[in-house]
Amino acid sequence: MRKAIIGGTGIYGLSNEVEQRTVETLYGAVECDLIRVGDQEIVFLARHGKGHSAPPHKINYRANMMALKQLEVKEIYATCAVGSMNPAFEPGDVVVINDFLDFTKSRVQTFYEGGETKVAHVEMTQPYCPNLIDRFKNAVSLTDLSYKGEAVYVCTEGPRFETAAEIRMYQKLGGDVVGMTNVPECVLAKELGMCYSALGIITNWCTGIEGVQIEGHVIDEAMGKNKESLTQLFIKLLTQGSSEVKCRCDQSLIIL
Ligand code: HPA
Repeated sequence: MRKAIIGGTGIYGLSNEVEQRTVETLYGAVECDLIRVGDQEIVFLARHGKGHSAPPHKINYRANMMALKQLEVKEIYATCAVGSMNPAFEPGDVVVINDFLDFTKSRVQTFYEGGETKVAHVEMTQPYCPNLIDRFKNAVSLTDLSYKGEAVYVCTEGPRFETAAEIRMYQKLGGDVVGMTNVPECVLAKELGMCYSALGIITNWCTGIEGVQIEGHVIDEAMGKNKESLTQLFIKLLTQGSSEVKCRCDQSLIIL
C-alpha cells in the first residue's frame, strides 16, 4: 500500500532519494516521482504535468488517477490553489476541503462508459475520505500553517476566472473556496476505491470580493509563503500512524 501526494510546486525536497517513473495506462502515460520518506515509498504526482504544461480543463485526470492505482496507491493527499469567497478564509490561509459543488462543463468524469466498461454510479455521501480529513487536521495543527477549518470547494471549468456575479451565486449556494481541478480528480479516485483528501491553499480573494483584481504575483506569493510549511506538513502526514476507523471509500461504486 502506498500513499500519494498530488500537487503543484512546493513540496519537493521531502527526500534526496527520488526515482522518476513513467506509468503507462490505458488513458495515456503519466510521469511520477517515487520518493523515499523514512521507511515508506511515496508517489508524487504533479497534477498539471512537469513544467505545469496542462491547463485545468485539459489535464488527463483519468490517466493520472489510473497511474496512482497501478502504483498501488491507497491514500491520496492533494493540494490545490483556491480563491476565497468566505471572509473567514484569507489569502495565505489553508483549509481542508470537505465537499464540492461541481460547475465543470466538458470533462470526462468516469471510467465507466457503458459497453465493456459497464455502467456504474459512484456514491458521494463523503467525497473526501473522513480519515484523511482527520489526518490533515491533526498534522496541520503541528505546523505554522494558518489553518482555518473545513471548506466547501466550488469547481469551475476554467481556465478563465469567475465573474463577480458567479461568485455571488456560488456564495449563496454554500461555496467557500473556488478552484478548477478537484472535480473530476476526487470522483475518479473514488471510482478506483482510493481514499482522497485535499488541502486548499488560499491564494487570492475571488473576483468581486475586497474589490481587487486577481493578479498572478499574488497567487505566487501565497504559494511561496507556504512552501516550507507545506513540506513540514507532508513529512508529518506521511510519518504519522494510520487511524483505525474504517472508511467506505473502497465501497462507493454501484455497478449496474
Ligand atoms: N478561481 C478559480 N481558481 C482559482 C482561483 C480563483 O479565484 N484562485 C486559485 N485558483
